Amino acid sequence: MAERPYTLLSCGMSIDGYLGSSNGKRLLLSNPADFDRVDGVRAGCDAILVGAATVRNDNPRLLVRKQARRDERVAQGQPPTPIKVTVTGGAQLDPCADFFATGDCEKLVYCASATADTARDRLGGVATVVDGGQPVDMARMSEDLHARGVRRLMVEGGGAVHTQFLTADLADELHLVVAPFFVGDSRAQRFVGDGQFPWNPDRRATLAEVRRIEDVVLLRYALSDRFRHE
Ligand SMILES: NC(=O)c1ccc[n+]([C@@H]2O[C@H](COP(=O)([O-])OP(=O)(O)OC[C@H]3O[C@@H](n4cnc5c(N)ncnc54)[C@H](OP(=O)(O)O)[C@@H]3O)[C@@H](O)[C@H]2O)c1
Repeated sequence: MAERPYTLLSCGMSIDGYLGSSNGKRLLLSNPADFDRVDGVRAGCDAILVGAATVRNDNPRLLVRKQARRDERVAQGQPPTPIKVTVTGGAQLDPCADFFATGDCEKLVYCASATADTARDRLGGVATVVDGGQPVDMARMSEDLHARGVRRLMVEGGGAVHTQFLTADLADELHLVVAPFFVGDSRAQRFVGDGQFPWNPDRRATLAEVRRIEDVVLLRYALSDRFRHE
């Protein structure tokens, strides 16, 4: 079997399990101390992946923010900030989005086969477009990332992407941050959708760490034998 990167899923959710609001507005689930922790986790990875809906809705930059962390990466022969990766079926992504427009790093778009040519026309100037299958197969994408040198992958959502990584048993570690409020609207995106997850009442995941970070709590789960406590 081809190798895949060590894969860490990271996400913030409300007490009732939502990733965001129902009105499309970006919801601040974390706090400054936790954002800084996430920045540190990013700095330790070779690539950061989000779904296309997150690129469209949140317009994230996905950069390592702290200069000292960027300097350290450069001193180790790495680019200042990890490779950015997204996945799309419809290829409706704006080449001017911050995902593409910011960061001195490689950008990869894994696109469904049917729209790969459209994606290359639209995004070829700002990213490398890879035909990922129909729809994009997350295992195949992980193996392709490994072949491109990615050894540690951070997946930052949203729910559709987390669901596929988890149900396909492609995750080694999960960082779940719980914010101290409710969203209370089922039109909002949940952390995960329906699916058959490898962890269930008969096969419980391993809770590796619980950390209070001001008003949020970080729950860290070990999801594979490859889990490394850092
Ligand atoms: N709280 C947090 O930590 C956090 C983190 C990230 C995001 N979010 C929130 O989550 C929301 C988005 O979550 P989401 O679940 O709706 O979307 P998502 O996971 O960000 O992206 C879903 C999109 O990715 C593409 N995609 C996913 N799997 C694919 C496959 N196998 N093949 C081809 N394309 C695939 C599709 O793009 P196309 O539609 O282009 O075909 C799909 O619509 C955002 O609004 C954001 O605010 C929260």
